[in-house]
Amino acid sequence: MRFAVFSDIHSNLEGLQVVLDEAERLGAEALLCCGDIVGYNADPNACVELVRSKGVRCIQGNHERGLRDLDGGLEPNMNPVAMEALLFTSETLSSDNRDWLLSLPEELAVEDSFYLFHGSPADPDEYIFDPFEAAYAFKSLAFEHALPANLLCFIGHTHVCAAYVFDPENHRVGEKAVVSGDRFSIKPGAHYMFNSGSCGQYRGGLPLATMCIMDTTGMTVEFRLLRYDVAVTQAKIIAAGLPPFLAQRLAMGQ
Ligand SMILES: [Fe+2]
Repeated sequence: MRFAVFSDIHSNLEGLQVVLDEAERLGAEALLCCGDIVGYNADPNACVELVRSKGVRCIQGNHERGLRDLDGGLEPNMNPVAMEALLFTSETLSSDNRDWLLSLPEELAVEDSFYLFHGSPADPDEYIFDPFEAAYAFKSLAFEHALPANLLCFIGHTHVCAAYVFDPENHRVGEKAVVSGDRFSIKPGAHYMFNSGSCGQYRGGLPLATMCIMDTTGMTVEFRLLRYDVAVTQAKIIAAGLPPFLAQRLAMGQ
């Protein structure tokens, strides 16, 4: 079976559409999202409705938990720009779309094959940027989550594509650089963690929308880093009155 896995859509309809088109072109039979469907960009309702209409199986990210915190009278743990976008999102979302976002689980085991997490297997708010940080996350994946799905997981949150492998025999963690078209073979005995990057605010230095294809028959994971019409997304951010920095960072891939 072929799964398209993506993350951090962040209300970017143009980025999401490019990823969905590529998933269809590559023959994906199911669609999965590692959280942060909303936040930062200007199309929260359109993105939630497209995700729901396509039957994408989603988990919550920290921006969905930010909505929950607002409802509970708590202060979301966000920087001022992210907070301004969260308030825009909260005011703009329909109650039906908001209820759907708040109903999502924090993690998901997909057909006993692999897990989805937002930040890491240990903590949904944790960022994994290097093998050292990945080592702690692998301990949680390998020893606190059930076989056989704990052999592999997908994460998001950093908005940068990454691939880590953990050998439980010698407790070594390796990192492999990712470029578009890379295909990783999943070998028995090791544990894998793949960051599918971001559909909506890629931070790898280029204005891209990114995704993975997980093939559970051939046991491969393939990355796709895709161009999309950033100028359209930027114009919507400005028209919505969101902070201009959110438009500028899209072009820089930051
Ligand atoms: Fe995010």
